[in-house]
Amino acid sequence: MKPESFSLRPATLEDLDAVVKIENQVHAAPWTEEHFRAELTKPYSQFLVFTDDESDSIIAGYLVFWVMFDECQILNLATSLNYRGLGLAKQMIQKVVSIALKKGIKKVVLDVRKSNSPAIQLYQRVKFSITHIRKGFYSNGEDAYQMTLNLEGEILPDL
Ligand SMILES: CC(C)(COP(=O)(O)OP(=O)(O)OC[C@H]1O[C@@H](n2cnc3c(N)ncnc32)[C@H](O)[C@@H]1OP(=O)(O)O)[C@@H](O)C(=O)NCCC(=O)NCCS
Repeated sequence: MKPESFSLRPATLEDLDAVVKIENQVHAAPWTEEHFRAELTKPYSQFLVFTDDESDSIIAGYLVFWVMFDECQILNLATSLNYRGLGLAKQMIQKVVSIALKKGIKKVVLDVRKSNSPAIQLYQRVKFSITHIRKGFYSNGEDAYQMTLNLEGEILPDL
């Protein structure tokens, strides 16, 4: 299936089984179903899934981000193994950026494991920079990079 045959929409409770299945395949310390469920109830949280336009039942990726004050924070973002390398993660970030710009938000931030080079390369590709190192941020003692995309003065950056 082509990447343009997929669209982002808000997640629902019915999506959780499929999301958790992907989450367990792709993350070293996966979120639980309860974790995702909680995000559906937070007024400042947006939980989106990338599904196929034909059946709306294949989940190719998902993201969770918070819109708080003058900042957007990406908490979780993943592409299913079968749909990697098609530009879906890039499109998910573009969605966050377009929502942030509409709300007049000045920056998008996230934390990423120092060892997660595909994700670091993804974020650098869409113009995030490493702004802090958080020593021992993860439960296994691994450091995090805080990465930031500054939107001040941007209309819609060409990511
Ligand atoms: C990181 C991840 C989200 C990328 O998803 P994806 O949909 O395959 O990424 P895209 O196709 O949109 O790639 C966009 C850019 O990211 C970078 N990238 C993606 N995968 C990469 C890899 N395996 N190695 C190096 N760079 C990579 C490239 O710069 C790519 O741009 P290019 O195609 O022009 O070279 C995916 O590998 C994933 O789900 N990983 C596990 C979960 C995770 O680590 N999430 C981030 C936590 S902070």
